[in-house]
Amino acid sequence: MFDVVSVQLPVEGDVAGQVQSVIDEAFRVDRVEPLSEAYVRAVREGVADGAEGARCFIATLAGEPGRVCGVAVVLPDRMGEMVVDPRFRRRGVGDALVDAMRSAGVVEGVWAHGNVPAAQGFAWSHGWSVQRELLVMRIENQEARLAVDELAARPVAGDLVWMDYPGAVQRFGQDWVHEQWLRVNNDAFDWHPEQGGWDEAQLRRSMAAQWFDPQGVLLLVDEQAGRLVGFHYTKWHGSVPSGQGSVVRGEVYVVGLHRDYQGRGLGSPLVAVGVKHLFGRGAAEVILYVEADNEAAVATYERMGFGVIERHVVYAV
Ligand SMILES: CC(C)(COP(=O)(O)OP(=O)(O)OC[C@H]1O[C@@H](n2cnc3c(N)ncnc32)[C@H](O)[C@@H]1OP(=O)(O)O)[C@@H](O)C(=O)NCCC(=O)NCCS
Repeated sequence: MFDVVSVQLPVEGDVAGQVQSVIDEAFRVDRVEPLSEAYVRAVREGVADGAEGARCFIATLAGEPGRVCGVAVVLPDRMGEMVVDPRFRRRGVGDALVDAMRSAGVVEGVWAHGNVPAAQGFAWSHGWSVQRELLVMRIENQEARLAVDELAARPVAGDLVWMDYPGAVQRFGQDWVHEQWLRVNNDAFDWHPEQGGWDEAQLRRSMAAQWFDPQGVLLLVDEQAGRLVGFHYTKWHGSVPSGQGSVVRGEVYVVGLHRDYQGRGLGSPLVAVGVKHLFGRGAAEVILYVEADNEAAVATYERMGFGVIERHVVYAV
């Protein structure tokens, strides 16, 4: 009924357009993006250094090699994402993609964005268990603006000052800012599978993204000690589809506070300063992703007015 082939990333030619159509059709039906940004970029642009293990599996209808009905992508961290065109579901395409990933020996876990009922049923049929859970939380401008403004305006201890990225670069130079930014990031996220252990090249790659907004990088600097204390890296989504219409969205992309400054009540203002920037730029809502088991962070966001809107899970395969 269908064939599965393994191809290198990026996916080229006409097949790339077909893969995008499968993703678009799944979004139209499920209302959740089936592949996250890193996977979509890998399909379009390939994987920078260390492409070892990264692979794309494409299911096409038998006899119609150009007709893509499902796709699975595995990145070098051995995590996969997969999606089947809704018009071809419940015909074993998903099973065949899993078999292909497994026989290639490249996959340890599969992301299920939104953990939609189909993904739950599919995982159940394979006997998979949840290995990791990420929450998507949201706060709305109309309801939360005043509280956020108030929190962002709270004074922080004497020598700590807020700056945005361009202001800090002008004051201290780009080398200093990047070195400090990476130092705080790698200290705050030394436990985190994707956000920890960043280097200059990774930072620059993320800053090269089309959504990057230099004014949306808010920094808290200890002037006396001459060091960065924390940063709030926001992401601008602009107008995105939502429900039957669209919404202007921003994201709390990464918030990091150096361990030496944790436990002093600086976390909430650090979040609020970035959210205020996004509301000020016109976001009707701000979202963020947080590990479900990071109870302290989840509670902080809830107190500020964020609520859970989606759950993304990794199934161990
Ligand atoms: C999850 C997904 C990949 C399944 O693809 P598929 O090609 O329909 O799956 P298969 O036909 O191979 O299904 C295999 C088995 O999984 C289970 N299953 C699949 N979809 C199901 C559903 N909607 N409800 C309950 N069980 C389901 C069934 O046991 C099925 O066997 P059966 O049809 O003989 O009963 C597809 O629904 C999808 O693309 N969802 C959106 C993206 C996503 O969630 N990806 C993460 C997957 S973990």
